[in-house]
Amino acid sequence: MLELNFSNMMQEVIGEKGISEKQIEGLKTKVYDIDKRIKAKEIPELAFIGLLEQDTSEIKKIASDVRKKFESFLILGIGGSALGPRAILEAISPFHNLDKKPRVFIYDNVDPRTLQRILSLTDLKKTAVNVITKSGSTAETMASFMILWDKMNSAVSGSSKNFIATTDPSEGNLRKIANEKKITTLSIPKGVVGRYSVLSSVGLLCAEVAGIDSNEILKGAKDVHKKCSDAEIWKNPAYLFGTLLYLMEREDKRSINVLMPYADGLKPTAEWFSQLWAESLGKSGSGLTPYPSLGTTDQHSQLQLWMEGPEDKVVAFIKVDDYEVDFKIPKVFKDVEGTGYLGGHTLSGLIKAEQESTELALSKIKRPNMTISIPKIDAYHMGQLFHFFEMATAFTGFLYGLNPFNQPGVEEGKNFTYGMMGKKGYEAKKEEVEKARGKKTCRRV
Ligand code: PA5
Repeated sequence: MLELNFSNMMQEVIGEKGISEKQIEGLKTKVYDIDKRIKAKEIPELAFIGLLEQDTSEIKKIASDVRKKFESFLILGIGGSALGPRAILEAISPFHNLDKKPRVFIYDNVDPRTLQRILSLTDLKKTAVNVITKSGSTAETMASFMILWDKMNSAVSGSSKNFIATTDPSEGNLRKIANEKKITTLSIPKGVVGRYSVLSSVGLLCAEVAGIDSNEILKGAKDVHKKCSDAEIWKNPAYLFGTLLYLMEREDKRSINVLMPYADGLKPTAEWFSQLWAESLGKSGSGLTPYPSLGTTDQHSQLQLWMEGPEDKVVAFIKVDDYEVDFKIPKVFKDVEGTGYLGGHTLSGLIKAEQESTELALSKIKRPNMTISIPKIDAYHMGQLFHFFEMATAFTGFLYGLNPFNQPGVEEGKNFTYGMMGKKGYEAKKEEVEKARGKKTCRRV
């Protein structure tokens, strides 16, 4: 079971830079109140908790068809509609495309070079395209869908059979197109927003196509939910994770939280978390900036800054107890001073020692850090990680007194793009862009 060790966040270990029990106790009434609001599903977007009870038979059926009929599976989506599937795939089936079928491609941008490369690597006749957008209207996703639709029509007859649309159950342009063109669909339940959708058909179809049991992912999430819905803060790792970061930001002005898994396969999970945390909490001048890191790699890149740079960070490690495979470092080069000592140890021993050492080095100079441990990286424990982070983020949003499910700050940028791309009703935005371009020319070298 996932566990949070927060000793190195507390005064008893790192002195006055740490948090006191009293500070946490001081938030207890607020935490009880938030817990009640979460349990009462006070706002519809808390529907992500209901995903743990979903029936996966439709997802499994569609995935089994894809596995039988296609060589490649191409996801088109962005934000929560792509980061979740990638996190699952990279954690549980790393280097998937080198020896597994169907190969999985995730196109989550509108970079023409990437699309060109994907198209050159796939035979469209043997490719299933899963277009994922909750709103059904995201410009990036719809643009790539339009290109794929057109290309597929030229390559295959009855091409709608090559598409699966994952979207809102009844609303949006994608739903409308899917109904008209008789495209197979999967629904993202009402209320579930992009960054909380990894445990819906968004992430689970990709999992099943890649041969990963979605029920195991959900089982892990359900089991951790028992812990993450305990009203008692001292027993609830999700509420504690949020409370500690909230206190570090509010009382100690720490504005960056690093997430540093010691496993290559979890780097995309750190990126998924970064979107969840940033888009949910970066509002009304509050929020910590998430930094998706990787151990041990970033010890040789970022650690110097964390040790001796500004005291504005909290580091959260993800530790894996059992890597399930290992390598013994052979006792070669015995005579080379400063290298021989490695011989006889294991790689898992080395990576664990490095994590523990980094933790201690930070704690010794009173830099706050905490460690999330998971027994191993499999479907069951990935379900735990995802749900733990989602519960923690939603809870933290309520602690700040904000809505952790909207993203009003991204609208203006979208409106300017609509204006530039000629969308009806956005003519004034186009003019604003043109005016601003004028200002941009005055200082150039
Ligand atoms: O969390 C969110 O809601 C967003 O980041 C979305 O995931 C992102 O904007 C893509 O939206 P959609 O799934 O509607 O295409």
